Amino acid sequence: LTVVALISGSGSNLQALIDAQTAGAPFALCAVISNEPDAFGLERARRHGIPTAVLNHRDYPDRASFDQALAALIDSYAPQLVVLAGFMRILTPEFVARYLGRLLNIHPSLLPKYQGLHTHQRALDAGEHEHGASVHFVTAELDGGPVILQARVPVLADDDAATLAARVLQREHVIYPAVVRWFAEGRLQLGDDGCAYLDGVA
Ligand code: GRF
Repeated sequence: LTVVALISGSGSNLQALIDAQTAGAPFALCAVISNEPDAFGLERARRHGIPTAVLNHRDYPDRASFDQALAALIDSYAPQLVVLAGFMRILTPEFVARYLGRLLNIHPSLLPKYQGLHTHQRALDAGEHEHGASVHFVTAELDGGPVILQARVPVLADDDAATLAARVLQREHVIYPAVVRWFAEGRLQLGDDGCAYLDGVA
């Protein structure tokens, strides 16, 4: 299964996917695209011989034109799956529709809780005892698509946003490659009813 990853930053989730591929998982990253020219994830890709491209959103007058250029760039690699791996841009409904059912995201919260930004601080402020991460199909609703797999971690008494984020991130690196593997094995579908199906079960 061929995969294009979209990133904006460190790319530690990208690294987890690269490591899974190296270890024999049935998918191949055919390109890594970043909207940030200095994203460290680009360097991770280069080290593993994966083609990279930068598409700087600041070079486009509006979201729609950026997303059109992004789609054209993605399609030049003809991937079967597109994964958002710390890609910090909101996507237009047109973009989402083009890749519906083959567009995944990982979000650092137990969705539907804490959609959007600053999830770790918000979980701490709310006094949560449990937090985590979710892999979901991307739909037009921001961080609102059907959840495929979640990882839970405890919130510890002395946590701050950084320590909590690090605990969640470790689990992200396990669940994202697992879900991409399921997709590659043909076990995962976005149903017409908007639910995620694993082995035919919602
Ligand atoms: C992760 O916490 C991911 O869930 C969120 O952004 C962060 C990206 O981290 N969407 P990295 O770039 O994969 O290290």
